[in-house]
Amino acid sequence: MFGARCLLRALRSCSSAPCPRHKPSAKLSVRDALGAQNASGERVKVQAFPFKYKERHPLEYLRQYPHLRCRTNVLGSILRVRSEATAAIHSFFKDSGFVHIHTPVITSNDCEGAGELFQVKPSSKIKVPEENFFNVPVFLTVSGQLHLEVMSGAFTQVFTFGPTFRAENSQSRRHLAEFYMVEAEISFLESLQDLMQVMEGLFKTTTMTVLSNCPEDVELCHRFISPGQKDRLEHMLKNNFLIISYTEAVEILKQASQNFTFTPEWGADLHTEHEKYLVKHCGDIPVFVINYPLALKPFYMRDNEDSPQHTVAAVDLLVPGVGELFGGSLREERYHFLEQRLARSGLTEAYQWYLDLRRFGSVPHGGFGMGFERYLQCILGIDNIKDVIPFPRFTHSCLL
Ligand code: 4AD
Ligand code: MG
Repeated sequence: MFGARCLLRALRSCSSAPCPRHKPSAKLSVRDALGAQNASGERVKVQAFPFKYKERHPLEYLRQYPHLRCRTNVLGSILRVRSEATAAIHSFFKDSGFVHIHTPVITSNDCEGAGELFQVKPSSKIKVPEENFFNVPVFLTVSGQLHLEVMSGAFTQVFTFGPTFRAENSQSRRHLAEFYMVEAEISFLESLQDLMQVMEGLFKTTTMTVLSNCPEDVELCHRFISPGQKDRLEHMLKNNFLIISYTEAVEILKQASQNFTFTPEWGADLHTEHEKYLVKHCGDIPVFVINYPLALKPFYMRDNEDSPQHTVAAVDLLVPGVGELFGGSLREERYHFLEQRLARSGLTEAYQWYLDLRRFGSVPHGGFGMGFERYLQCILGIDNIKDVIPFPRFTHSCLL
């Protein structure tokens, strides 16, 4: 029979964590260790460990084992990079004078107005005096932005970095039902230019810190999962990000020789295929697309008061391999403009508190949100978002 020490050694041989006492020649496999005899000397039939020592398994295969895949080299590296990137993002904001705010996970408002909400209710076993636990319908947050706007009125520069939930019926390689978002809100900010500078600074500073703090882990991904990614990332880091307007973007797409599934036209949303084309067209350098049609965007984005093509001061950052990484805007700080937009969307009553922020002293401000998993995909060259989060949640799947 194998002792506990022996089993531990076998597990270490499959583990992603470097073990100081591990000898490379010890090739004992977990199957060997577990396919052992019981106390009465009988052979015990056990399930084989699903990963083979020194064999490279596709990420898709590893995904079937969310409880074991973190023991492989590749998931080990990705998750260590994730941890370093989390710390680097906090440092970036701390060093830039931002205050960290814990925005709520449970909320009674729907920031994006897109209706992609998970509703939260007590399970039927719990008795509550009212029909609703909170007296009002509540949801998991889709964005901490509106709560950050409250805080930016007190602290000037604030950020939050936490789980975000969207009930999007998508199994795409860049959508999750639970993902992490980095969001910032800045008071006394008057131009998209200033906002884009913070976005580019966050991307580049965080990436440089990650590259210098865990080079071996990044290298493993670049060499074995996404060859060529090292050069692609360097190219992104050493060039200034580009800026084009939504109107220019639509013109570029219209002139493209490529046939798109969704025909590009002014007033329509940009789809993944369009985003990919635009990034390629811009030489694989991240590109800011600014000033989107007012009709496409939520009530809080600042009106550019232009015509006949009416736009708002919105900005998306598109990056190679991923498409949209950041979404942000200047916020509508002018009371009467906001009041009209809310009235048009039938939201006046629900957002009285938001109008108060303008009523009781308002300053120009703006902010953005960056999808953290998409960021990791972008720097590491990981094709599927499900491989950069420890336990992915998406339509029809919530393992563990
Ligand atoms: O563009 P979004 O929807 O922007 C907002 O939520 C703003 N309120 C943020 C703000 O201004 N404070 O989302 C921001 C980013 C996207 O650009 C994308 O990277 C990521 O969040 N994202 C997702 N990532 C993974 N899975 C999903 N389902 C995502 N939806 C958005
Ligand atoms: Mg967006």
